[in-house]
Amino acid sequence: MRIDVLTVLPGLFDCFLKEGVIGKAISSGKVEVKVHNIRDFTTDKHRVVDDVPYGGGPGMVLKPEPIFRAYDELTKEGEKPYVLLTEPWGEKFNQEMAVELSKKPRLMIICGRYEGVDERVKSLVDREVSIGDYVLTGGELPAMVIMDAVLRLIPGVLGNLESLRADSFSDRGLLGYPNYTRPAEFRGMKVPEVLLSGHHKKIESWRKEQSLRKTLERRPEIIENLKRKGLLTKEELE
Ligand code: ADE
Repeated sequence: MRIDVLTVLPGLFDCFLKEGVIGKAISSGKVEVKVHNIRDFTTDKHRVVDDVPYGGGPGMVLKPEPIFRAYDELTKEGEKPYVLLTEPWGEKFNQEMAVELSKKPRLMIICGRYEGVDERVKSLVDREVSIGDYVLTGGELPAMVIMDAVLRLIPGVLGNLESLRADSFSDRGLLGYPNYTRPAEFRGMKVPEVLLSGHHKKIESWRKEQSLRKTLERRPEIIENLKRKGLLTKEELE
């Protein structure tokens, strides 16, 4: 998987690309992420990336030329990328979209900024994506959120396959079960007995029940959806 990011604030990605699971995936060559400064694709003396909106109004709009130039330059060779534009009014990002995107060989993420992006940029875009119903100052954090969720799904990026499977939202979208580590009792709070029992079947069924219970409590619509699609077993429905 290769991801190209187009942004006017490339420095924001520095830590994200160096640290932790994502940093390791990149340094070990499992995935390739290249962050490009849109300003580097300007041709004028002042390297201008934005301009006032036609028709007036507040704020600035990202100009089309540098973005098209970046796209042309970066797609001269190799596979054409699947292009995302981060926008607060885009399609809402979720685990299903992350799974779909993780199967693409190449992605490009254009980080929206300011009051918006010149509408003509959207002719390059396959999907406008929002990470939630709130407005951020730009699309850089959303790009990192999307990359984090997508890259951890690439085989070999997460060390432990189990941790993927047990994760919230990966078993049919059910929320994750509660986890404990040592000590067995901390400030009067005890680890549930079953987890200390060493009885794997019992532990598995306790975890499944906890997972269902938590989902029913916090996200009942997920359970309703699974029921409608017939994706819950008889036992689980009880
Ligand atoms: N840009 C600003 N806010 C955003 C959001 N919530 N999602 C994606 N891009 C954004």
